[in-house]
Amino acid sequence: MLYNKILQGDTISLRMVELSDCNENYYNWMNDKEVNQYMETRWAKQTDESIKAFVQSIRQSDHSYLFAIVYNGKHVGNIKLGPIHPIYKHADISYFIGDKSAWGKGVATEAILLVSKFAFEELKLNKLQAGAFEQNKGSQNALLKAGFVLEGVFRKKAFLTSQDNYCDIYEYSILASEYKRSLS
Ligand SMILES: CC(C)(COP(=O)(O)OP(=O)(O)OC[C@H]1O[C@@H](n2cnc3c(N)ncnc32)[C@H](O)[C@@H]1OP(=O)(O)O)[C@@H](O)C(=O)NCCC(=O)NCCS
Repeated sequence: MLYNKILQGDTISLRMVELSDCNENYYNWMNDKEVNQYMETRWAKQTDESIKAFVQSIRQSDHSYLFAIVYNGKHVGNIKLGPIHPIYKHADISYFIGDKSAWGKGVATEAILLVSKFAFEELKLNKLQAGAFEQNKGSQNALLKAGFVLEGVFRKKAFLTSQDNYCDIYEYSILASEYKRSLS
């Protein structure tokens, strides 16, 4: 979906990912083994074409938004909202910070907070959810800091590199009522 406004936070802002963002940086992030170790995209070599096709498909979709995370004036990663269920008003979020110099600075936490504000205040959604590999403490901590709660553990649902080592997936969520309570 397209959205022309900027979501402004204290240290970051979110804006739509444009096709012009599909540059060498983006390509390098997607193929960096440390950045992509927990991302489903790691199963296929990411090319200029596949990245552009992905961005274009989300821009044209009627159920998802793809925001660029801008920190210190630079595009450092993305956060996706969607697919949005048209009836039940719940949606997934997923994100990555590709620029490793921006790790550990609260960027993911603030991006999750900004997307939550947009989802609950503007889109009037009822629930957001996100999954993280059991090993991905950074992602889990960012979700908890942004007010998400652990909803459940999907046992041995996926693996990072080999089917000899299935891992648990931790599923987090936040409800509109919890988001509103956190503001008061
Ligand atoms: C995981 C990731 C999103 C974290 O982003 P980030 O901007 O560095 O996270 P934040 O700075 O908001 O950190 C949130 C909290 O988690 C902690 N944290 C961050 N990385 C951590 C790590 N690797 N291990 C343990 N804790 C970590 C931070 O210290 C912070 O807690 P604190 O404020 O108590 O210190 C980022 O490293 C990343 O994009 N990694 C690659 C892709 C990925 O894993 N995406 C998520 C898939 S579910």
